[in-house]
Amino acid sequence: MDKPAWLIKNGIRLDGRTPGDVRPMKMIAGFLDKADGSCYIECGKTKVVVGVHGPREVHPKHEMQDTKALVRCTYNMESFSVDSERRRPGLDRRSTEISKVSAQALEAAILVERFPKTAIDIFMEVIQADASTRVTALTAASVALADAGIPMKDMVTAVSFGKLYGENGEEVVAVDMDKPEDNFGLADCAVAYMPNIDQFTLMQMDGNLKIDEMRAGMAMAKKACREIYEMQKAAIKRRYE
Ligand code: CDP
Repeated sequence: MDKPAWLIKNGIRLDGRTPGDVRPMKMIAGFLDKADGSCYIECGKTKVVVGVHGPREVHPKHEMQDTKALVRCTYNMESFSVDSERRRPGLDRRSTEISKVSAQALEAAILVERFPKTAIDIFMEVIQADASTRVTALTAASVALADAGIPMKDMVTAVSFGKLYGENGEEVVAVDMDKPEDNFGLADCAVAYMPNIDQFTLMQMDGNLKIDEMRAGMAMAKKACREIYEMQKAAIKRRYE
C-alpha cells in the first residue's frame, strides 16, 4: 500500500467520511446454528464472525472459579483475511493479547456472579481485515452474548479513533480507522464502552496523542458507540421478529 499524500482534506477522509463517521455497518444476530449465541458483523470491509458457548462446564477443571463464570475469548485472524504475505495461520502474540483484553472488556459487562463454576467461551473469527478488527469483534461479541441469553449490565460497544494528517499539515482526530488510516495515521486507539452506564472497559493506544486530542477522541468515540449501540439493539430485535 503506497503512502497517500494526505488522509483528510477539507474535513473529508479518503473514503468520503467526515471525522465523526463510522463506516457502513451490518450485523446479523443468530448467524450460526450450532453456537449458543452468534453474530456476523461488517464494518466497511472488515468482516468478523463471533460464536458464543456457555455458560457451560469448565475444561480444564482447574480453571474453574467458585464465585463467578470464567470468561474466555479466542480472537483469530484467518490467514485469508489479510494480504497473504503478512499473516501466518495460528496463534501469535498479537492474537493472544487481543484475546486477553477482549475477555476483560466483555467480562466487565457480564453478570458473571450468576454463573459460578461455569465457562463462557467467546470465539472471534476475523474473516476479512481492513483495520479495527478487535473493536468490531467486541461489538459483535456483545450481540452474540445477548443472543445466547447471557445477562449483562449493559452491552459493550467498541470503536477505534485516531489522528490523521491533512493536506495542509493539519492533524485531525477521527473515529473508526480503516486500513490506510491505521497504516499511515499518526495514532490509533481502541476503546470499548458501555453507553448506558457510561463506563469504558478497554482503552489501548498506538502512537501519540496530546491530552486535548485524547479528550476529543474519547468524546467522538462515545458518540459513535451510541450509534453502534442502536445497531446492536436493532440486530437483536430482528432476530426475534
Ligand atoms: O485490527 P486492529 O486495528 O484491532 O489491530 P491492529 O493490530 O492495529 O491491526 C490493524 C490492521 O492491520 C488489521 O486490521 C489488519 O488489516 C492489518 N494486519 C495485517 O494485515 N496482518 C497482521 N498480521 C496484523 C494486522
